Amino acid sequence: MDKYAVFGNPIKHSKSPEIHSQFASQLNEHIEYTAILAPEDGFVSSIKDFFAGGGKGANVTLPFKEVAFEYADTLTERAKLAGAVNTLKLQDDGLVLGDNTDGAGLVADLQRHQVQLQGAIVLLLGAGGAARGCVYPLLKAGVKHIVIANRTVAKANALAELFAPYGEVSATALDDIPDLPYTGVINSTSSSVTGDIPCISSRTITKVAWGYDMFYSNTRTSFLTWIADNNKACYLMDGIGMLIGQAAEAYSVWRGKYPDVDPVLEKAK
Ligand code: ATR
Repeated sequence: MDKYAVFGNPIKHSKSPEIHSQFASQLNEHIEYTAILAPEDGFVSSIKDFFAGGGKGANVTLPFKEVAFEYADTLTERAKLAGAVNTLKLQDDGLVLGDNTDGAGLVADLQRHQVQLQGAIVLLLGAGGAARGCVYPLLKAGVKHIVIANRTVAKANALAELFAPYGEVSATALDDIPDLPYTGVINSTSSSVTGDIPCISSRTITKVAWGYDMFYSNTRTSFLTWIADNNKACYLMDGIGMLIGQAAEAYSVWRGKYPDVDPVLEKAK
């Protein structure tokens, strides 16, 4: 049986083994997918052991996405631009390919929700790893302009500069967001983890058609609750679909077949 695993620290609460086992049974395939806790300073030896022991591919989660990027022998364009790797695949030539499916997972989820990306003006809150991973996939999906707003404006500026060759990307501080006709807003900050919201003026989001929080929980996130309070018509989405979307994309990178996310999403609700 082909062996796959997710590496992280912590890893106990990872949903990936359950998601991938549902994908495999849906496609009538038999795979083994486990969760592996790698020591904080021991990712490379763990992953080497895994491939030496017959592993075919791996997912990588916090805090190892950057070290996986360094470890990979060869990188996809989207992984290079994300500066991080969440999917590793042992190729037939023995080299390990590093990919990043997070942004594709977000785009696929937005499209599944029938959000119009072509020509959209998107306000992206946050400029950390999660934001960096989604800029290129959003531009490729047709987004016309991305405004990156971050608490630390220097990080937003650095991302805008990095992605300038690929489309219209600008940067701003959270308290200085330009007044543009935003189509939608994406929260990539980790503020929802603690129930906070990024400190932005509610005026910015009163007219957006949709709002996305990359965080997810059983109840509505603090960010989505805040949008709903200020914009009754806004269509709200949390990050569970992105999680399952990035997994589906990884599965297709490994096995060349694209699973259906809907039944898995239905079960996760
Ligand atoms: P990730 O990989 O999840 O993106 P990260 O790289 O640590 O994690 O980035 C976290 C992001 O959330 C950053 O943009 C951070 O802003 P700073 O760059 O100014 O630190 C943002 N962030 C975290 N908590 C926040 C809060 N309470 N309000 C606004 N932004 C917040």
